[in-house]
Amino acid sequence: MEQYELEAIERLTTRTPRDYRTIEVRTLTPIIGAEVSGVDLSQRLSDEQLDEIRTAFLDHHVLVFRDQIISQEDHKRFAGHFGELRPVNPPPPQGDPYVLEISTSAEAANVAGNGWHADGTDDAEPSLGSMLYITRIPEAGSGGDTLFANMHLAYDMLSPAMRQFLDGLTAIHDGHIAWRGHTPPEGYVIPRTEHPLVVRHPETDRKILYVNPAYTESIPQLSADESRALLDMLFRMVPNRALLSCRVHWTPNTLVFWDNRCVQHHATYDYYPHTRYGQRVAINGGPLKG
Ligand code: SIN
Repeated sequence: MEQYELEAIERLTTRTPRDYRTIEVRTLTPIIGAEVSGVDLSQRLSDEQLDEIRTAFLDHHVLVFRDQIISQEDHKRFAGHFGELRPVNPPPPQGDPYVLEISTSAEAANVAGNGWHADGTDDAEPSLGSMLYITRIPEAGSGGDTLFANMHLAYDMLSPAMRQFLDGLTAIHDGHIAWRGHTPPEGYVIPRTEHPLVVRHPETDRKILYVNPAYTESIPQLSADESRALLDMLFRMVPNRALLSCRVHWTPNTLVFWDNRCVQHHATYDYYPHTRYGQRVAINGGPLKG
């Protein structure tokens, strides 16, 4: 590993552990993810619990809450503590407009999220984060894990020269890539948006490598060949560097809250012909700044 990569990892792994008073936080890896216990999401949480959850969220980017028996109202109330709820778009044909069903069976035409991505980066203001509550795991008892990657560290592990070059660029995110092979509902206008290629986290100001293979189409400041080669190299960073990611193994009634601004995720479809079911609520984000 290069010295600048080691330094980036060391900055993360040598952080002083927080002293939580109202929740327990157990890291999944030193780089990303933590399990939070000591909270019952079916109940109203105290201000101090919520403050500590916010702190853990900004530190670890992915929080796992196990053994939660919650209603849709509890799910939405918890999400609402972090911002305005984001209506599902395109809207679901039936049911709650804020709840996206994540449902896979042997007959399903589409498996949501089976590839590295952040949600809806083709939107002008992608979501702040999502809370996915999985109630049914594949009958085999394994499979269907979700991987989450730390895109702060992906940026920090680039060479100083590459970081400086990327800092001045933008990238086009086009929903047509994610919709390829599928027909969007009548009247749905597929978004296409230009974002800075490196964005700053609105709460921590840390830089984020903001490209993903599900939405990012091109870098307009470069030639088509240069853009393709650079994007492919940046996309490969996540699958090629295992330490950037953590793996969440779902057990029934687990809720995972991830920061969609600085995390990419990948739902692993390795459980055909079994089924998996959950519901996702997302929170509105603001404009992204470089
Ligand atoms: C998604 O939000 O992309 C789905 C994640 C999952 O099913 O684990």
